[in-house]
Amino acid sequence: MALPRVWLYHRKVMAKKDTATARQPARDSRESRRLTVAHISDLHAGSPYFVPNLMDRAVVEVNELAPDIVLVTGDLTEMGFKQEYLLAKSYLDRIECPDLLVIPGNHDSRHVGYVHFEELIGPRSCTLSKEGVTIVGIDSTEPDLDHGHIGRARYRWLEEKFAHEARFRIFMLHHHLLPIPGTGRERNVVYDAGDALEVLQHCKVNLVLSGHKHVPYAWRLEDLFVVNAGTACSLRLRGNIKPCYNVITIEDDRVEIVRKHPFHGTEAMIAFSPSTLAYEKSVSLREQEER
Ligand SMILES: [Fe+2]
Ligand SMILES: [Fe+2]
Repeated sequence: MALPRVWLYHRKVMAKKDTATARQPARDSRESRRLTVAHISDLHAGSPYFVPNLMDRAVVEVNELAPDIVLVTGDLTEMGFKQEYLLAKSYLDRIECPDLLVIPGNHDSRHVGYVHFEELIGPRSCTLSKEGVTIVGIDSTEPDLDHGHIGRARYRWLEEKFAHEARFRIFMLHHHLLPIPGTGRERNVVYDAGDALEVLQHCKVNLVLSGHKHVPYAWRLEDLFVVNAGTACSLRLRGNIKPCYNVITIEDDRVEIVRKHPFHGTEAMIAFSPSTLAYEKSVSLREQEER
């Protein structure tokens, strides 16, 4: 994937600032461990705002990218109906990736839709360890409610899943843990977000991935980077935000996250060092909307 222009700019800036690093001899390429993750969210299959062409294109683009892992953070469906699950699954089944992790969103838990999720998609929580990266995904939904909830009963489970050695830890859930600009009145933030954020800090999680608000955004909070994906293929949009999905590249001590608009270009979101926590957030939401 070609680097977006903003990265090129930032890389030039970083090269000026970090001359000591620039003088170091190049590392043996065998030491480099690059992992690419595609993060798709909020398909809303079955909604009148679902655009099959956009989802079809997103699948084609993801297959061309050939990521190591694909993550889908919920709202596969609009109402949790079986036929909507079958439609969403018909697209997910075309993703050619050995590690596809999917968790439900609030729309998937409507009308007892979690039954279809478990039958057609799989368990509602998931874990994966690959090349030193640990990913834990959790079902943050409550039946027929829109708000998110993790719950004290699952904090110990999270701590156990993140306990073993890892070079990078990712937690994914559907709902947002931090408010997201440009989304109007704040609603549906995870009910126990404060406690959950402390648990995640304690677990040494590096990156939290979520969806739900249909607005891509990135925050840094203490040692955590919290990054939201937009809707990949629906027109349930806020303001001038366009459908998109995120691509995360983890390589040595640098993580880059860009958003990709199906049929269109790639734009930088945030890049950071997991060890120093230095980061560059590329564009504000206001800049996104003005494009
Ligand atoms: Fe959604
Ligand atoms: Fe949602």
